[in-house]
Amino acid sequence: MEHRALSRLAAPAVAALLALTTACTGDTVQGRPGASGLRDPYFPRAGNGGYQVDHYALDLDYDPADGRLHGTAVITARAEQGLSSFNLDFSGLKVEGVTVQGEGARYNRTGNELTVRPAEDLKKGEVFRTEVDYSGKPKPLVDADGSREGWITTEGGAVAVGEPVGSMTWFPGNHHPSDKAAYDITLTVPRGYEAVSNGELRSRTEDADGRTAFAWHSPEPMASYLATAVIGPYKVTTGRTPSGIGLYSAVAPGEGAAGSGPLARLPEMVEWGSGRFGPYPFASAGAIVVPAGTLGYALETQGRPVFPGAPTEEELVVHELAHQWFGDSVSPKSWKDMWLNEGFATYAEWLWAEDHNGSTAQEYFEAFRTGDTDVDRDADVDWRAFPPAAPPGPEDISAEPVYYGGAMVLHRIRQEVGDEKFFALVRGWVADHRHGNASTADFTAYAEKKTGHDLKKVWDAWLYGKARPE
Ligand code: ARG
Ligand code: ZN
Repeated sequence: MEHRALSRLAAPAVAALLALTTACTGDTVQGRPGASGLRDPYFPRAGNGGYQVDHYALDLDYDPADGRLHGTAVITARAEQGLSSFNLDFSGLKVEGVTVQGEGARYNRTGNELTVRPAEDLKKGEVFRTEVDYSGKPKPLVDADGSREGWITTEGGAVAVGEPVGSMTWFPGNHHPSDKAAYDITLTVPRGYEAVSNGELRSRTEDADGRTAFAWHSPEPMASYLATAVIGPYKVTTGRTPSGIGLYSAVAPGEGAAGSGPLARLPEMVEWGSGRFGPYPFASAGAIVVPAGTLGYALETQGRPVFPGAPTEEELVVHELAHQWFGDSVSPKSWKDMWLNEGFATYAEWLWAEDHNGSTAQEYFEAFRTGDTDVDRDADVDWRAFPPAAPPGPEDISAEPVYYGGAMVLHRIRQEVGDEKFFALVRGWVADHRHGNASTADFTAYAEKKTGHDLKKVWDAWLYGKARPE
């Protein structure tokens, strides 16, 4: 009697255990939720866990008259674990519907997280298609350092930029630089407008209701913060660099001076960079000059940097071009590695000057050490407010120590190993991580291996050291 009662009690537990065993071993593997962030040291909620994106197809229909955007994002990704749900980063705008593998999916939103629950769990290794339909008037974000990023409306148009987390204001995605993907961005705008994005223009078609669709194709992997969309009555010019790389540039009305300024040397700079750093990483190059005042900074949007107004300094054009190798092709693993972007792009400015009858990199280095503003008007900034590889917070990832302190680290390596090994290091680094991601630890290990020098003292004093090195 007692025995029978016991077995009756135990039966449901045994059944549950059996069910669980089947779930874990059979082909109906149960997924679990993907993480809502990648724990970036500065932007912990940026990006999402459990999958990697292969391709974004963004179809964006924009009307500059009312500022409304209709978007369809088709995201092709690979599950890295069984997934019962997964997240996309998305800010503002209204989600009209989500499908996964063509089937309606449930979704909900909290903050900048869009959680998608597919009708069926996704298996580890499965390649799956998510479609998000959305609409609304996109708004930019204000960054930790006070600058604006995301979808910004301009007189008669719009400019979309992303660094570091602004791309989530105009398309849902895995918005962290560690997940790079190919893109097809189609922008549909009223007739008479130009619409420019990354990569190559595949087609430009007019539809019956007087709208023009610009289909842009970026086959090389791109970090989402480097995606751009620029819409307005721009003047477009095309051409080729001396070695045959296609050029496509767009200049806002009123910024016509761009044509005769430092931007005119862009084709020559592309060739110079290829000589110094290795082959230009993308199929085309160019620039987008947006109305002055739209942004407080230029941005190295992939293949085609955005400039706020016609650039007046060669250094700025060289800087954004150099990012195509450092940042765009070789992207940071986390936002902590920003000095690898900005240190190299700043050092490229010094190298360009050195190669074109300006001051030498050694002279720039000394100028910053002594605060000599005759050589560089920024030489008296506090480049040691913090160590380049350890910005105190998200508001510091684009601050002077990352740029100038970062460039000084590179020059210190050059001083230690000599020109031949230094330039072999730079080219080897770019070639080894082409279209990929790299961290500060990857760089320091590579630099020592490639040059055969113990550089610990340089890292300790110049990269991580809190005190101003002597
Ligand atoms: N990466 C850009 C450049 O150096 C600057 C971006 C500044 N962004 C910001 N939020 N402060 O060309
Ligand atoms: Zn930069």
